[in-house]
Amino acid sequence: MKLVAGNSNRALAEAIGAYLEIPLAKCMVRRFADQEIFVEIMENVRGEDVFVIQSTSYPANDHLMELLIIIDALRRASARRITAVVPYFGYARQDRKASGRTPISAKLVANLITHAGADRVLTLDLHAGQIQGFFDIPTDNLYSVPVMSRDIKEHHDIANITVVSPDVGGVVRARALAKRIDAPLAIVDKRRERPGESEVMNVIGDVEGRNCILFDDIIDSGGTLCNAAEVLMEKGASSVLAYCTHGVLSGGAVARITASRIEELVITDSIMPTEAVKASPNIRVCGIANLMGEAIARTAHEKSVSSLFD
Ligand code: R5P
Repeated sequence: MKLVAGNSNRALAEAIGAYLEIPLAKCMVRRFADQEIFVEIMENVRGEDVFVIQSTSYPANDHLMELLIIIDALRRASARRITAVVPYFGYARQDRKASGRTPISAKLVANLITHAGADRVLTLDLHAGQIQGFFDIPTDNLYSVPVMSRDIKEHHDIANITVVSPDVGGVVRARALAKRIDAPLAIVDKRRERPGESEVMNVIGDVEGRNCILFDDIIDSGGTLCNAAEVLMEKGASSVLAYCTHGVLSGGAVARITASRIEELVITDSIMPTEAVKASPNIRVCGIANLMGEAIARTAHEKSVSSLFD
C-alpha cells in the first residue's frame, strides 16, 4: 500500500500516514511558470494499492487539477489500484440544476476523477449522500458523527442537549447525531430569499432552556449557523454550540463566528485550518485522521468500511 498526498492538506495526510505507520510516498507537485501543474512520483508504484489524499478545498480548481494529474501519473506508472481519498469533496453543493441552464458540477467532477483513472473514492460527509451515485466506481462516504459524538461526550454534559439542524435539508444528518448521543432534535426552518443570503424563519421543536448543538456539513460564509444561533437564543436556548464537518470558512466567516452567539464551533481538519482559524478563540479543530486512516486500512485489506459506524 502507498499513500500519496497533494498539497491541499499535507498535515492531515501526514497524520493519516502516522496512524497507518506508513510514510507518505515521495511525490513532487510543482508549477510551471504559466501555472500548469506538473507531478512526478519519485518512487516505484508498479502493482501497488495507492491512496491519493487530496481535499478539493480552496483554491478548489487548483487542488482538483492536482488530484487529477496525480491520478493520471499513478495510472501511467502502473499502480494496481488507485483510490481518491477526498475528505472534502468540493463542488458538492452543485448537485442538481437549481434553475434552468445551470450545470451539475458535482457530476462533472465525479466524471473527471473517474476518467483520470481512479478505481475507488473515499470521502467524508458528502453534502448529499446521493452524490455517491454520480460515480460509476465504488464510493465510500464516511460519516463524522462517531467522531463528533465522542467529542461532545468528552467536552459537554449531554443531559440537557438538543441537537439542531440549521435547515430542513440537514435533518437526516442531525438526527443521526441526536440518536448517537440520545438527545432530542429541533429544526431551524430557513428560507433563503436571494442566492447567497440566508434568513432564519422559525424553529420546529423545543429549545427553551436547552443547550443547543447545531450540526451541519459545511460552514462557508457562516451565515447559516450564525443566523440559526441567533434565532435559537431568541427562542430561549441556554447556549448554542456548533459542530460542522467541513470548515470552508471563506471571506469574513471567522470574524462572523467570533462575533456570533455561538459559544464554540468545532470543525474537522478535512480542510486544512487557516492561521485565522487556529487563532480564533471560539473555533476548535477535531481530527479525522484516525477515521480516514482506519477506512483506508479496511479498504486495503478488503474489510467492511460500513462497520466503522456500528
Ligand atoms: C447548505 O445546504 C449547506 O449544508 C450549508 O448549510 C451551507 O453551505 C452553509 O453555507 P454558509 O455558511 O455560507 O451559510
